[in-house]
Amino acid sequence: EVDRKESLYVISTFAAQFFADNLWNTDEGKSIGLSYFKERGFREETLKKFEIGYSPEEWSALNDKALSEGYKQEFLEETGLVIKNDKGRIYDRFRARVIFPIHNFTGRIIGFGGRTLKTDKSVPKYVNSPESDIYHKSNVLYGLFQAKKAIRDMDNCFLVEGYADVMAVHQAGVENVVASSGTSLTTEQIKLISRFTNSVCILYDGDAAGIKASLRGLDMILEEGLDVKVVLFPDGHDPDSYIQAYGASAFKTHVEKNKKDFIFYKTEILLQDAANDPIKKAGVIRDVVESIAKIPDAIKASVFLRECSSLLNMEERILIAELNKIRLTKA
Ligand code: GTP
Ligand code: MN
Ligand code: MN
Ligand code: MN
Ligand code: MN
Repeated sequence: EVDRKESLYVISTFAAQFFADNLWNTDEGKSIGLSYFKERGFREETLKKFEIGYSPEEWSALNDKALSEGYKQEFLEETGLVIKNDKGRIYDRFRARVIFPIHNFTGRIIGFGGRTLKTDKSVPKYVNSPESDIYHKSNVLYGLFQAKKAIRDMDNCFLVEGYADVMAVHQAGVENVVASSGTSLTTEQIKLISRFTNSVCILYDGDAAGIKASLRGLDMILEEGLDVKVVLFPDGHDPDSYIQAYGASAFKTHVEKNKKDFIFYKTEILLQDAANDPIKKAGVIRDVVESIAKIPDAIKASVFLRECSSLLNMEERILIAELNKIRLTKA
């Protein structure tokens, strides 16, 4: 069993080398993959730090190469690097894509994300490795291996949506950044962060999906007892596109100026819909108190309750009663 897992690690490392070799040393990789990243503003050192690669536009380039070097077919299939279809035909999962290797936090390669370069919608934008004995996506944070020292040093972890966001933010000089790529944020991922810091700052995409995910994420982070702030990005920007549009220092300024404690963020977002409707406003208050009820530390919770009271102009004793009601029904 240990040997078997080791074989999956070894074959994943081999595949990462194959993809990287294709990016840096083949005409196709250079003219398509490398120029794609350059157009997106990524520097070579950043691509190297994240061990980025390229999978050629062929049906079984990786499979053929791996077999010729003595790697076993069954391990290629178990990692999901190759797929066997109903007719028994074998082909590579990642074809004509730029490749983001996914590391566990000790630095071993356990899976991959691959982005298409096509701009139409003929294929999914991202393809990810399936679950395997070495890759459990709900327990992995993309970029944690490259970020963990900075997360400890800064005592904070920025959380973004995508692979490209991790690389762009890192390249902007903010190295304490990870993504829960390929899945919505899980409790296991938050516990992983909490080994390095108790403070998270969410930098999700500035669209409806990103805002929705941020509200869900902040409740989960509060529940694990971590502090959480959120930064909203303007009109459809994500951290990567913001950096591309306005530069690294504008990005850092935006984050510092717009980072909001969860309670201010959530109140602001919810009140936008409530306007002056008193019934809706009551719903907002209840919703914010529900988030506060997730905080395990009673002292912290009561500090936020007081904050909420002045923010929403609501008597504190009413909020306390509401909090206790929520706690009772959840106990
Ligand atoms: P870029 O267009 O390269 O900047 O990607 P993005 O990261 O900004 O993409 P988006 O905000 O649409 O998605 C965020 C993350 O969700 C991605 O990094 C992927 O991990 C994942 N994702 C996006 N599209 C797909 C998809 O079509 N399939 C799967 N499985 N995951 C996706
Ligand atoms: Mn397992
Ligand atoms: Mn998005
Ligand atoms: Mn995005
Ligand atoms: Mn993006």
